[in-house]
Amino acid sequence: MNLTLGNKIVLVGNGAVGSSYAYALLNQGLCDELIIVDLNEEKAKGDVMDLNHGIAYAPTAMAIRYGSYEDCKDAALVVICAGAAQKPGETRLDLVNKNVKIFKTIVESIMDSGFNGIFLVATNPVDILSYATWKFSGLPKERVIGSGTILDSARFRYLLGKEFDTAAVSVHGYIIGEHGDSQFPVWSFANIAGTPVAERLTEERKKEIAVKVRDAAYEIINAKGATYYGIAMGLVRITKAILRNENVVLPVGAMLDGEYGHHDVFVGIPSVITRNGVKNIVELSLTEDEKRKLAKSVQTLKDIQNSAL
Ligand code: LAC
Repeated sequence: MNLTLGNKIVLVGNGAVGSSYAYALLNQGLCDELIIVDLNEEKAKGDVMDLNHGIAYAPTAMAIRYGSYEDCKDAALVVICAGAAQKPGETRLDLVNKNVKIFKTIVESIMDSGFNGIFLVATNPVDILSYATWKFSGLPKERVIGSGTILDSARFRYLLGKEFDTAAVSVHGYIIGEHGDSQFPVWSFANIAGTPVAERLTEERKKEIAVKVRDAAYEIINAKGATYYGIAMGLVRITKAILRNENVVLPVGAMLDGEYGHHDVFVGIPSVITRNGVKNIVELSLTEDEKRKLAKSVQTLKDIQNSAL
């Protein structure tokens, strides 16, 4: 069956992340139809009504309504933000068993609708749940995309931008691996206009920046209970890349199938994103230390994956 075209999006999970994503979608005018699915029907219908009241001031019209899994049948993209949220002090991997069970029900219900588009997964632990979505859906790996390290890389670029008084959009850098504690910056690639930044930082400063990126979510969760604006912006960036067939490189969650010498695991990794999902994974020339860190991150995820799935 050919991939579903058009730009209808179904959002499953209308919590803080999902509703922030919906609001960002409306503001950027990226799709002409958005269906929100959530167990809390009253709250979801309230958000639908609230979003519809902003359409007059949105860049484009958007048909927004509450719906069900059946609406996934002709959706180009299903974005899953549903699941238990991370609590203060809880790691993303602590969430895994709760959310794998929830995902089995969600993904199977979506596939029962005849869905034949692309999944975008945001729920944590996102790398494990991206793998679970791929496994439960039976779709080709390129059609399951996780948020991966899209947000971590944005945090990294923001901090380097402040360090060097340069707009984050002009700072090029990736955090790769687990969206979690074993992630790491690819310092060998980080640059501003092609000029390496690592050599302009001490080892101590590099470590400080890497730790600040890695622990950002814990800091925000302790301050306000959850994170949602940054991840929503990352999800919208990936959505735009898919719907506009951009062929752009983004550090999404993608399934390694031999790249970097690893298989059968989703990690945050620079990938070329098109209308058909992940076209290919970009193989950066990692240093030996970076290769070791990636292998450690992969193993961390596989240990959890093998026990939870
Ligand atoms: C964070 C959540 C999205 O890193 O895991 O803020």
